[in-house]
Amino acid sequence: MSETISVGLGERAYDIHVGSGVLKRAGELLAPLAKGVVPVVTDSHVADIHLSGLLAGLRQAGLDARAIVMPPGEVSKSFAGLERLSGALLDMEIDRKGLVIALGGGVIGDLTGFAAGVLKRGVGFAQIPTTLLAQVDSSVGGKTAINAVQGKNLVGLFHQPRIVIADTALLKTLPRRELLAGYAEVVKYGALGDAQFFEWLEVNGVKALQGDEPAMVQAVAHSCRMKAAIVARDERETGERALLNLGHTFGHALEAATGYGDRLVHGEGVAIGMALAFQLSVRLGLCPGQDADRFIRHLKAAGLPNAIADIPGPRPGAGELIRHMAHDKKVTDGKLTFILLHGLGRAFITRDVPLEAVKSVLAD
Ligand SMILES: NC(=O)c1ccc[n+]([C@@H]2O[C@H](COP(=O)([O-])OP(=O)(O)OC[C@H]3O[C@@H](n4cnc5c(N)ncnc54)[C@H](O)[C@@H]3O)[C@@H](O)[C@H]2O)c1
Repeated sequence: MSETISVGLGERAYDIHVGSGVLKRAGELLAPLAKGVVPVVTDSHVADIHLSGLLAGLRQAGLDARAIVMPPGEVSKSFAGLERLSGALLDMEIDRKGLVIALGGGVIGDLTGFAAGVLKRGVGFAQIPTTLLAQVDSSVGGKTAINAVQGKNLVGLFHQPRIVIADTALLKTLPRRELLAGYAEVVKYGALGDAQFFEWLEVNGVKALQGDEPAMVQAVAHSCRMKAAIVARDERETGERALLNLGHTFGHALEAATGYGDRLVHGEGVAIGMALAFQLSVRLGLCPGQDADRFIRHLKAAGLPNAIADIPGPRPGAGELIRHMAHDKKVTDGKLTFILLHGLGRAFITRDVPLEAVKSVLAD
């Protein structure tokens, strides 16, 4: 039950190994890419559960694997986190031609990828994603970053990993809320470009979330295939890759308005954001209402939030949300970029959206 997907990026091409139990092969897969000491960067939650097994496997393959454990959460994706991690990596005397391993969710992947990208002018790194979000999204495509006080992910670079190992068995220990948040990104692939996959998710998605291993492997593998294809065509997001931001303009504004805290995690913001993108598309006469209804029905079936009213606490106002959107990275020449839909599986990029329509959808 495993699959290998290639990301076709010429000399920066790499493979994504997806499967249940595929981590057992980490030593064999990573040994040809490593040189000298092999740092394994993780956070303390993941370290408690999954680190010792990986270290043992790597050492069995003859690798000099050494752990670096960071505090969990966004706090590590910071200048202070970068300084601490860089210091630890340099103290270990990493080889310029060596390999740094990121074992964790999107936070560890983004931070480690960025540190690897800037240390010694670029060291190779491997992604071993342990959250569903990281397996289907952040570990693939080479976007790495830390946060600045001015906003999330504002200090970063493109640095492709040399390999991705996505073991779906690791998801069994993930808190339910994190699993669901990652599922929002899975649904996103169906919504943006593959109506057939969306249909498959309507039948199998909930099963995957309830622990059906083959269904989860298929969901992760198909998501990675779609992301790999898009990244191979548009690595630097000059065009098509922006489709992957479906739901994110709204989602980021909701995250900012709720203080990036426990009220709303990233994937939940994306789920509500996608529902709003469908509703805005319907309001503008671009998308059949039944597609939006079907999409929202599936979010509900999965147990994901799908409306601003689903966020606990005081409701963020339309004006406040639009102000947050104006600060997003996705603004060029003062115009907001939206990903809208002509229907399920048919997303497109537009900068031509009347603000009044956006306001009315946000106020509904
Ligand atoms: N680079 C990209 O393309 C990209 C894309 C999307 C999101 N991101 C970034 O990803 C980050 C969010 O990633 P995330 O949702 O994975 O969050 P995360 O890395 O904070 O992980 C969520 C929580 O789950 C814990 N955890 C991880 N794996 C576990 C496991 N197997 N069992 C038990 N607990 C586990 C972590 O310790 C953490 O507490 C954000 O910083 C976001 O900006 C990056």
